[in-house]
Amino acid sequence: MEPGAHGYFAGGAGDERTLRRNAKAFEWWELRPRVLVDVSEVSTRATVLDTDVEVPILVAPVAFQLLAHPDGEAGMARAAEAAGAILCLSSLTSIRPAEVAAAAPEGRRWMQVYLFRDRGVTRAMVEEAGDVGFDALVLTVDAPYAGRRERDLRTEFQVPAEIGTPAIEAAAGHRSLTTAEVFGLIDPSITWKDLEQLCGEFQLPILVKGLITGEDAALAVEHGAAGGVVSNHGGRQLDNVPATIDALPEVVEAVAGRI
Ligand code: LAC
Repeated sequence: MEPGAHGYFAGGAGDERTLRRNAKAFEWWELRPRVLVDVSEVSTRATVLDTDVEVPILVAPVAFQLLAHPDGEAGMARAAEAAGAILCLSSLTSIRPAEVAAAAPEGRRWMQVYLFRDRGVTRAMVEEAGDVGFDALVLTVDAPYAGRRERDLRTEFQVPAEIGTPAIEAAAGHRSLTTAEVFGLIDPSITWKDLEQLCGEFQLPILVKGLITGEDAALAVEHGAAGGVVSNHGGRQLDNVPATIDALPEVVEAVAGRI
């Protein structure tokens, strides 16, 4: 992979403490195996938001997948379909949602969205996703501004113009936006009130992505979220926050089975 693209995928914000912590924290978590239960038939099947999945694994939204592989998001969609997992497609997909859906017609799909300053752009993206069989929206709430990603600053990384963000460009009616321009479209003034309004406006269930505290998880429930994604954006936004796996218990406790 070209060094700029590699740094974009592999890197995180600031000193990358959170990026490292996210992975490292798994080393300290232990399984507590219980014995003498009937395991003659076992299955990894689970249900997420009323959807049956073969494995309790979802593919997180990752932008610009054509930078990593010539099949881009279409390849990821086929893999998720084959595994019986759910694909969550980034708004910054390098392939239009309709083409991703066509690549894996039996696969289950959720669409990641941002609330843009121009609500019409968000609405147009949600509409396209709904039209081509996406079952839920995943609203990213931890990126009102782009994190300070020092690897990208060192490599002077820019997404090549030929890759672009076709879903956003189609909705916004622009051509070829840079990553900085896309972040510039995001409305940094949004609050829980906006979430509540969105939940009333869109037909699809909305999950809030970027919860890392019990307080915010409780607010997400109170303001109508159908689900939450415990995430620190892969350590790419604010550095020195808890690892996601460490934040999970307080979020689960605060939600108390309500979503
Ligand atoms: C990122 C944004 C696009 O982390 O989600 O690069």
